[in-house]
Amino acid sequence: MISMRNVTKQYKGAPRAALDDVSIEIDKGDFVFLVGTSGSGKSSLLRLMLREDVPSKGSVSVLGENLVAIASRRIPQFRRNIGMVFQDFRLLPNKTIFENIAFSLEVTGASRSKIADKVPAALNLVGLSEKADRMPNELSGGEQQRVALARAFVDTPALLLADEPTGNLDPATSAEIMRLLEKINEGGTTIVMATHDRGLVDLARKRVVVLDQGRIVRDERGSGYVGQE
Ligand SMILES: Nc1ncnc2c1ncn2[C@@H]1O[C@H](COP(=O)(O)OP(=O)(O)OP(=O)(O)O)[C@@H](O)[C@H]1O
Ligand SMILES: [Mg+2]
Repeated sequence: MISMRNVTKQYKGAPRAALDDVSIEIDKGDFVFLVGTSGSGKSSLLRLMLREDVPSKGSVSVLGENLVAIASRRIPQFRRNIGMVFQDFRLLPNKTIFENIAFSLEVTGASRSKIADKVPAALNLVGLSEKADRMPNELSGGEQQRVALARAFVDTPALLLADEPTGNLDPATSAEIMRLLEKINEGGTTIVMATHDRGLVDLARKRVVVLDQGRIVRDERGSGYVGQE
């Protein structure tokens, strides 16, 4: 599903590489936490997986696409199979909740009947069916993140990338978002999630990949934030 080999990312003018000879394989159905101190390279790694950026060295293959060689015109098509969730939700402020979710289908040229079918299903998944006609600013942060999850998941992507999706939420709301992510993962979607949330990582016992100054220093299944106890 994801294969990175000897990936180095050196940003222009940066004193050291943001990613330094990183190799990682992620299989279909995996749930992977990316952890590590601020600046360790988590977001950089996710950006390479989404082809928002290219490596300075090494190979990146995601969903069977060689992301170093992929033609620009194919990138939108490639991204249709990937859902993305961010710390700051990134909902469109002038669209209703329904329209926010529908929009991510509209850009793929989905039919009206598909939209009428899929948007309510996604809203139901995150438990926000009654708020379909509200505007984003009428929702709490946790609710907005549930909408963002519904939007990322509405076209049942093979892969969901999440960059600190609980970073702005209180512990109880974070746990709720985590439950939704686990539900999505149980449906077969592969999840890669960057997080600083030690409590969530310790509770979930998933695969934990630790980055330190751009290098993978630990990669363990069924683990916690710090390591096997
Ligand atoms: N566009 C950029 N240009 C130059 N340097 C960058 C750029 N993006 C990130 N960096 C640098 O690359 C390193 C890794 O950054 P990255 O954002 O991947 O870290 P992170 O693990 O996501 O951190 P955080 O936990 O704070 O989100 C940092 O030293 C950062 O300053
Ligand atoms: Mg980051």
